[in-house]
Amino acid sequence: MKSPRSTRSSRPRRSAWRRRDFLASAGTLGAGVLILPRLRLFGANAPSNKLNIALIGVWGRGLAHYKSIEKENVVALCDVNERHLDEAAAKFKGAKKHVDWRKCLEQKDIQAVMCCTADHTHAFVANWAMNRGYHVYCEKPLANSVEEARVVRANYLKNKSKIATQVGTQRHQYENFNRVRELVLDGAVGELQQVSAWGNRQLRRPGYLPPGGDPPPYFHFDLWLGPSPAHPYNADYFSGAAGMNCLQWNMYWDFGTGQVGDMGSHTMDLAWNAIDAGLPTTAMAAGDPYHPEVSPVALEMHFDHPANAWRPAIKVSWYQGGVMPASPAPWVDLNKIGHGALFEGSKGALVAEFNARLLVPSGNAADMTYYKPRRKEALIPPMGEFQDQWINACKGDLKTSCNFDYGGTLIEQMMLGLVAHRVGKKISYDGATGRVTDCPEANEFLRRTYRPGWTLDG
Ligand SMILES: NC(=O)c1ccc[n+]([C@@H]2O[C@H](COP(=O)([O-])OP(=O)(O)OC[C@H]3O[C@@H](n4cnc5c(N)ncnc54)[C@H](O)[C@@H]3O)[C@@H](O)[C@H]2O)c1
Repeated sequence: MKSPRSTRSSRPRRSAWRRRDFLASAGTLGAGVLILPRLRLFGANAPSNKLNIALIGVWGRGLAHYKSIEKENVVALCDVNERHLDEAAAKFKGAKKHVDWRKCLEQKDIQAVMCCTADHTHAFVANWAMNRGYHVYCEKPLANSVEEARVVRANYLKNKSKIATQVGTQRHQYENFNRVRELVLDGAVGELQQVSAWGNRQLRRPGYLPPGGDPPPYFHFDLWLGPSPAHPYNADYFSGAAGMNCLQWNMYWDFGTGQVGDMGSHTMDLAWNAIDAGLPTTAMAAGDPYHPEVSPVALEMHFDHPANAWRPAIKVSWYQGGVMPASPAPWVDLNKIGHGALFEGSKGALVAEFNARLLVPSGNAADMTYYKPRRKEALIPPMGEFQDQWINACKGDLKTSCNFDYGGTLIEQMMLGLVAHRVGKKISYDGATGRVTDCPEANEFLRRTYRPGWTLDG
């Protein structure tokens, strides 16, 4: 099939009405005198052009977003840990403080929400925020179940003419993502057949932590648990360094989905960006046996994806925890790449990590005559800073690279793979209805059960 030289990348534009307002104002003013004040008023950082942001989950990963949001109006801060909340409030003076994100979202001056809470509340915060018309940036993984992924994506699609969304897979801003996409689309590996992504992180745990006493008075553990079933408090869930603490809790089913949701979100993004995939038609998985408390470490998941306009049907796979795809050549050691992707086609393979790539033509027919590198002017343009892309989109054309349609489809596939792992067989999936068509018990595992009083759609 022919490879179009299309780009999926989007670049934020300044909103048209602001530019029109400025020109109209400047045109009606007297010569010179008032033009400078008007420029300031309508400049990029003018008070009138700042976004009112609520930061939910202010420490850890939340800290990584300060640089982008400090240029805006941070009007609300929310954290279940009052110490973290107070530290953030010392920086964002004037922002209202909340410990419960449900109350935070009721604050009337919010326009946009950044969610950096634990994984099991992402879909909740994102969906409730969209229900209130807010723009949303949500840390990965966007969802912890197939149902959560579908609810959030459907809500975004319903509101996409009004809101901008971004899943926090910020490595997407690396220009290597564009180069990989160009190589695959332009046929550098011939006709695409199979795509694999992998991650080598291994965090084995025997089960939930034992009771560890009462939480400290400044920590609202029950709110941290939120919609998930109750578990006893243990300080070890919260003993990690800033930005790494998710590795203390994300392997437990009620809080996360292990490396599938964690590095799977980032690394499958490297593959997803280059294949224009929708939902798979089948899923199968193998690895560590299913454990009712902790997600598998060693795992491989395989999906069938139908053909699209520029490529045939392909297989997409995820490997983790020491399980790896076969290397395209004996002298290429994929184990040296902690997190990477492999694109295999009729004429060769492309090996990629987040920042670099290696093309491996194969066989006598792989003389590269079938591939014409792009001219510099035809390269996919850089997207710029990832968080800023979302902020600009909120103020402008609403277009982002990893919106909840793109990221929601990616994570729905990954969550479906975990369902296949749980039932221990290959399953067929109808992406239109979100149902497994040949294994009734699998349909029970498409969703999580929430504690009474918690709803995904509030
Ligand atoms: N994009 C990336 O590269 C990247 C890197 C690290 C973490 N993350 C993601 O960011 C999220 C947070 O990870 P972390 O390591 O910072 O975790 P963390 O446990 O340190 O939590 C971050 C902050 O959120 C607060 N919080 C947790 N649940 C909350 C809730 N329900 N309401 C309000 N505040 C809440 C915590 O008290 C803490 O201050 C995770 O989902 C993780 O997957 C993304």
